[in-house]
Order: sequence, then structure tokens, then C-alpha cells
Amino acid sequence: MARVDLRTPNKTHDWRDLEEPAVVQARRSLTRFLLCGFTFRATPVAINGVLRFRWRIRPLKLWEYARGWVAAPVTAGQKLLDVGGGGTLPPCFAATQGAEVFVLDPDTQLNQATDRLAHARGWAITTSAADLAAEQEAWPVGWPVGAFDAIHSYCVVEHIPYAGQERLLKRLAHALGPGGRMVLTFEYGEQAPGEAPWRDRERLDRMVELMMEAGLQLVEPTDFEDAGHREVLDRRYPEAPFAFGMLVLEKPLRVS
Ligand SMILES: C[S@@+](CC[C@H](N)C(=O)[O-])C[C@H]1O[C@@H](n2cnc3c(N)ncnc32)[C@H](O)[C@@H]1O
Repeated sequence: MARVDLRTPNKTHDWRDLEEPAVVQARRSLTRFLLCGFTFRATPVAINGVLRFRWRIRPLKLWEYARGWVAAPVTAGQKLLDVGGGGTLPPCFAATQGAEVFVLDPDTQLNQATDRLAHARGWAITTSAADLAAEQEAWPVGWPVGAFDAIHSYCVVEHIPYAGQERLLKRLAHALGPGGRMVLTFEYGEQAPGEAPWRDRERLDRMVELMMEAGLQLVEPTDFEDAGHREVLDRRYPEAPFAFGMLVLEKPLRVS
């Protein structure tokens, strides 16, 4: 299995992770893209569901986006699925690299912001409000299910009830093509405030196990490292310090 260009892909956040050389390069590219593609063109961009004009991406989001891009980049002609990325920067950034991008988000207003921008800038991005966490599995017609080169999902699963998360993660595992990589970020820790965060190691292990049953492997080194930081990462919950976690999984290539 190919190694990703991150010292420890599967871990909770540590601000020192932002100083890894590959991450420094990715965050510079993403920040430059924010300024040139959005800010200086008076174009709003969504972060955590809030669409507005922005001068910067906060360190935690850069930790997610930059590490996610390093772990599962896409090149020209490849197919990326961004789950929960309506209105956000990463799908647009991937489209500027020549990738064909698909965005799943139940928020139609955020999707419309992406649609307008993709149309105006000539980016290959298709959005849909289909809910793959629902009981019935219904993919948008014509999407390359089983052939995505990468799937990114930043800060989404903790907003979906556990049964829905389990359905979604299994379906995403099946949607990834052989050799493809999936990056997931999520709230982690006993006091994490999301609707359904991963509060302990048992929950994390269960989610990893079900993705493994669906054909994925954690990339190496496979151990999940809890860096131990618990901080107030959501100002709406000043008494609930928690961590952000990332998992990077891969679907092995078929051996003929
Ligand atoms: C906290 S925001 C994160 C958004 C974005 N990924 C980011 O990093 O800024 C959560 C997003 O997940 C979306 N979402 C909620 N349920 C979803 C589902 N079942 N499938 C896909 N996206 C979902 C929400 O509409 C929202 O855009």
C-alpha cells in the first residue's frame, strides 16, 4: 500500500501538524486560492455551513483541508466526491486542478452557491442534495459510484445520528474505486458537542471496523494516535473542550 505524505495520517489534531512540509505547501496553496479565487473577487465561501465573505481560513479548518488534500489529492481527470462540501473551498480547489468533482450536501442553498460559481468559472462540479445517510440508498443518477478516486468529508459525520453515519460510511466505502482514498474528519472526545460525535475509542474502532468490512484499509501507519489535546474548538460551547480527528482509508487495488 502506498504511504501518504503525512507522518501520522490517523490522529487527533495537534497544531504542530500544520508545520509538516507537505501540509505547509498545501495550506499555502489553499490560502492563496481563497484570496485569489474568492476574497479578491468579492465571492463568499462556506465554512461549517456559513456562507460569507472571508479573509482567512482558521487553523482547525486548515488542519482538515490541508492534511486532507495531502492525504487524498486528485489530479486532472480524476473523480472526487466531497460529502458535506456545499459552498466550500475544497471542491472548488480540486476542480481548478482539473478533477471532476461531485458534492453531496442536503443544504440546497450551499449547493446553489457552488453551482453558480462552477458555472461562472467553468469548473466541473456537480452537486446533489441526495442523503446517503438515509435508510434508502439513492445515489444521484449518473454519478460514478464505485469509481471515485477520492472521497473527502470534513466535519460532517458528527452531525448525523449514529445509525445514519453507519449507513453513510458503508456506502462511501463501496463508492470508492480500487486504489482510491477516503479522508474523514470528525469531532472526538468525551465532551465533543456535535449531535453524534465520536466520544471514545470504542466508537472510533466500531466505525473503522465497519469501513474495513466494506473493503477499506487504514493507510499506514495504521495506528490511531490521540495527541491528547482537548480545546474549545467551537465558541458556541465554551465549556466543552474536544479534539478533531482524521482517518485516512484506502481501497486496495484488485489483484488479477
Ligand atoms: C459543519 S458543516 C461542515 C461543512 C464543510 N465540510 C466544511 O468543512 O466547512 C456540516 C455539513 O454537512 C452537511 N451534511 C449534513 N448531513 C449530511 C449528509 N447526510 N450528507 C452530506 N452532508 C451532510 C451540512 O449541510 C453541512 O454543510
